[in-house]
Parts: sequence; C-alpha cells; structure tokens
Amino acid sequence: MSVITRARVQLLAGNVADQIAAGEVVERPASVVKELVENALDAGAHAIRVEIEDGGKTLIRVSDDGLGMDREDAQLALQRHATSKIRTAADLIGVATFGFRGEALPAIASVSRFELETCGDGDAATRLRVTGGKLDGAEDSVRQRGTTVTVRGLFYNTPARRKFLRATATETRAAVEALTVLALTRPDVAFSLTSDGRVLLDCPPAARLIDRAHGLWGAELADTLLAVSHRAGPLEITGLVQRPAQARPAGRKGYVFVRGRPIRDPFILRAAEAGYRSTIAPGDRPSLLLFLDLPGDAVDVNVHPAKLEARFRDKFFVERVVEEAVREALAPLGSAAPLGGVGFQGSGVGFGSDASMLAGTPLELFTGRDLTPDTRHQAPPLLQVFDTYILFQTDAGVAIVDQHSAHERVLYEDVMRQLSGDGAPAQRLLLPLTLDFAPAELDAIEAHRELLARIGYEIEPFSGRSIVVHTAPNPHPRFEAARCLQELVADLAGGRFGGWQNRLERFAATYACRAAIKAGQMLDAGEMRELIVRLLTASLPAHDVHGRPSMVQLPKEELERRFGRT
Ligand SMILES: Nc1ncnc2c1ncn2[C@@H]1O[C@H](COP(=O)(O)OP(=O)(O)OP(=O)(O)O)[C@@H](O)[C@H]1O
Ligand SMILES: [Mg+2]
Repeated sequence: MSVITRARVQLLAGNVADQIAAGEVVERPASVVKELVENALDAGAHAIRVEIEDGGKTLIRVSDDGLGMDREDAQLALQRHATSKIRTAADLIGVATFGFRGEALPAIASVSRFELETCGDGDAATRLRVTGGKLDGAEDSVRQRGTTVTVRGLFYNTPARRKFLRATATETRAAVEALTVLALTRPDVAFSLTSDGRVLLDCPPAARLIDRAHGLWGAELADTLLAVSHRAGPLEITGLVQRPAQARPAGRKGYVFVRGRPIRDPFILRAAEAGYRSTIAPGDRPSLLLFLDLPGDAVDVNVHPAKLEARFRDKFFVERVVEEAVREALAPLGSAAPLGGVGFQGSGVGFGSDASMLAGTPLELFTGRDLTPDTRHQAPPLLQVFDTYILFQTDAGVAIVDQHSAHERVLYEDVMRQLSGDGAPAQRLLLPLTLDFAPAELDAIEAHRELLARIGYEIEPFSGRSIVVHTAPNPHPRFEAARCLQELVADLAGGRFGGWQNRLERFAATYACRAAIKAGQMLDAGEMRELIVRLLTASLPAHDVHGRPSMVQLPKEELERRFGRT
C-alpha cells in the first residue's frame, strides 16, 4: 500500500530538464567526447583534438578548427532546444549533420563545470563559463577560429551518477572508442586523443577509409581487410570486411554506419556474418566496417536519445543486401591474401584492386571465352610444387593454390547444389561394396541415408554391422569410394565439424573434405587444369570451407619491389 498525495502540476525548471536530458545523452565521459566531437565535425572542422584526464572524470577538452560562433550564438547554444542544424520537423528527414536535437551542450553543462571558448570568422573570441547549468561568466578571449569546450568534474553535482563511473582505464578505453568510431566516418579529418598527457590516438587526414583503418589499428589489421562496394536499388554499401582466414574468435571490430552516422545494429552485423557462410571457421568473428547509404526518407535516425539506433523502412531488404555485399567482396580471386609486404590489395593495380576485371580474366585465359575445349590452348602453364600446390600466372601476379583446399571448395559448392537439387550423378558399382561399421557409425549412416543418396552413395543395410554400397559418387579419377565413405561416416559419427550451424552445410563440408584430392598427390597436367578451371568458376574460389585460404597470391608488384624494379 502506498499513500498517494496529490501534487500540483508544474513546469520543471530548465536546469532540471537539462539534467534529465543529460541522463539520456551523457552516460559517461565517452558520451561527452562523442557529443563534442560530433559538434566539431558538424562545424566543418579539419582537425579535432581531444584531451582527457583520469579517464575524463576530471577533465575532457575538445578543440576544433571549425566555424566557431559569435557570442550571441554561443550563449544561445547553451539553451535547451537551441540548434543551428534544423529549423522544422521536416528538416529531420535526411538530416546530414550529427546533431539536430539541440540538447547536448546544455545537458553536458548541467552536470559539470563547463567552459566554452569559441571564435567565428571575423568575430572576437568569447569565453563562457557555466557551473552546474548556471552561466557564471562571459568574457572576451583570444584565439583562432574554432571552438574549445572544456568539461571538468563531470557529474560533480549528481553524486549518484558519479558513482557509476568505472575505473579510469575503462573510461579511457570507452573515450578512445567513441573517438575511433567518429574518426572512421571522416578519414579526411585529423583526430588525436591524449590521456593524462599520453598520446593514445593520432590520425592524420587520409584519403581513404583503409588509410584511416591503418592509422587507427596498424597494418596488422588493415592488411587483412577487403573492400566492399555494392549497390542494390536505393541502397549502397561500402566499407571493409576481413578476409575469412584472418578472422579470430575475439577482438573483432564491428561497425555499422548509416548515412555517415555510427549506429549499433547487431542484426546488420549478423547479416554480414551470414555473407561469410562456408568460408569461416566456427566461432571466428570477422572484423566488419559497413557504410550504408540510402535516401533520407528510407531511414529514421531520430529513434534514440543518443542517436545510436536507426529504423529502416525495409529492414529485411537492408539485411539481404548487406549479406550480398559481403559475399561479393569475398568472391574475386583478388580477395586471396597477398604474400610479402604489399598492403591493402596492392597499390591500385594489383590483384583485387579491380574485382570485376580480375574475377573474369584468369578464367578466360584458361577456358577461352566460349568455354570450348579447343580454345583452351591459351591457358597459362600450371606448375605443381611439393605435390600439393599449383602455381600459375595471372594478370596481377602469381596465384598459389592449395590443391586439397581448392578441391574442397569446388566439391562443397557442387554438393550444396546437389543436395538442394537433383542429386549427384552416381556411378553404379559393378561389384557392390560390403563395408563394416561400428554401431555409432551405423547410426550416423541411418541418420544421413537420404543425404548420402543425394551425393551418390546408395546404401543398404546388409547384416549385423555390414552395409552394401550399390552406387558411389565419382568426383575425380583418383576417388576411392570406400575410403571416402568410411572417413565421412567416422566424421559424422564423431561430431567433427560440429561448429557448423546447418546440417546440410556440415554434411557437405565433411564430404568435400574427405572426397577432395589430398595434399601430397602428384597430378598430371589435365587434372591440374580441370581443378583450376573448376576453382575459377566456383563462387568463392579464394577461401576454403574451414576458414583457411584455398589460394594466396604473390603480387607482381611485390616481385618488382624485391628485385628493385620499381
Ligand atoms: N564546436 C562547435 N563549433 C561551432 N558551433 C557549435 C559547436 N558546438 C556546438 N555548436 C553550436 O551549438 C549548437 C548546440 O549544440 P548542441 O550539441 O547542444 O546541439 P546540436 O548539435 O544542434 O544537436 P544535438 O543535441 O543533437 O547534438 C549547435 O547547433 C551549433 O550551432
Ligand atoms: Mg550536438
């Protein structure tokens, strides 16, 4: 039971309203960094400097060289709902600035000791001081064009919130992350962050996103990224995604930007991961930087107080296109990892710099344009080394194929088609095979009987532990039907490849692994050609089905670099 006393309805004092707004917008020092840096970007800054002390708990300072403000605007900017970015509700549709709510500065100023120093073109500089939301000083100052906001003692007047701040290292990390996300939206702008005098981030202006990724995380990550560029109707997707073989279970970067604005959207990240189907080891999570561009009226960005979410008019369409975009980025031969010191997809002319050209060219060389055998004499020679790798020349360098992984990829794609279509052409055995299995294996055979039949194994129980095999697949001349079946069944019974989500995919991957040509097998010229031609017509030739490469490339420019020809 509670006693309800009736209170008068009153408007909240502005300062109280600001503090309430701060509850939504300003969660921790990193949120202050985010809001102030967004304001700097909206003001057209070319260089943005962030300083924090004690994880931002004692000091956050953001300086920019943007448009600045005159005194009147600066004072207005500290009022709630004061913004220069929109005028009417209609302006919200397709709003191109980060800010539009006119809330951030008053909210921050209401829970800190706040100082704003600013200077617009042709104006005198102004300094305003606000303590806990109360303006307590406006004076002239001297500075160049731009704005510096200093926030001290965050939450000094809201002790309950101050208590929620985490350890300095945690808050510092969050602040660095807040700046990192925004630095990704604008490679052309310089960003730096110092924490207690130490430089934690220092990114010069860069021409391309990949250069910014390099500046933020170094070559170790940047060199594992592939470019994405895909359009479907009104939706354009660009960005960077990691090569499957270089994905790891922990520490991935996952960023989604919509119309240049960072948002959190686990569904879009998941859709992108779906694009990695059959190329990635179970548990590995690729790094993803996805920029979605679509008309302003196809997405609502005003659905979260800190603008961390967006609502799409057609979410399923967006997710489908994201998946397609990733798939397309993984498809070209150029998505194979380069050997040597050449970084991101070479310097423009290498393997993979033009996906469409490179995806087509080698195949034509091998097969002739009309894919008839008599034009195949144009094919470049193939060289097998260590009875395991096949080398050949492409436009851009030397491709090095792992014969087993490559064959697995080819068979996997065949089998997936067979399992969902008419099944595989099977070969009736002149003498049916009789094979013995352990009880658990017999169970596995029973459980996969239909799938085994689709790939070409027609099997009947015989007696006790024996079965009879009437037909078998015939994927290549060296195929050993009995051995393959025994290994496949042992894998299925033993739960190998258990990380695969989908039963069909798991079955296909297991079969492909067991049916494929092994490493250490010498191949004749015809077999090599057959394998390479089929690999080059596969949808994802450069990646095997266990999260390893099926191909690497030695870029021509790497050779030129090594031999001093450039
Ligand atoms: N660094 C800056 N340089 C120039 N003008 C600024 C800067 N920061 C803020 N302003 C001005 O102050 C106004 C208020 O900023 P504030 O962040 O409170 O609101 P907003 O950016 O318009 O919207 P939101 O609350 O969504 O961020 C801005 O509209 C802008 O005109
Ligand atoms: Mg703002």
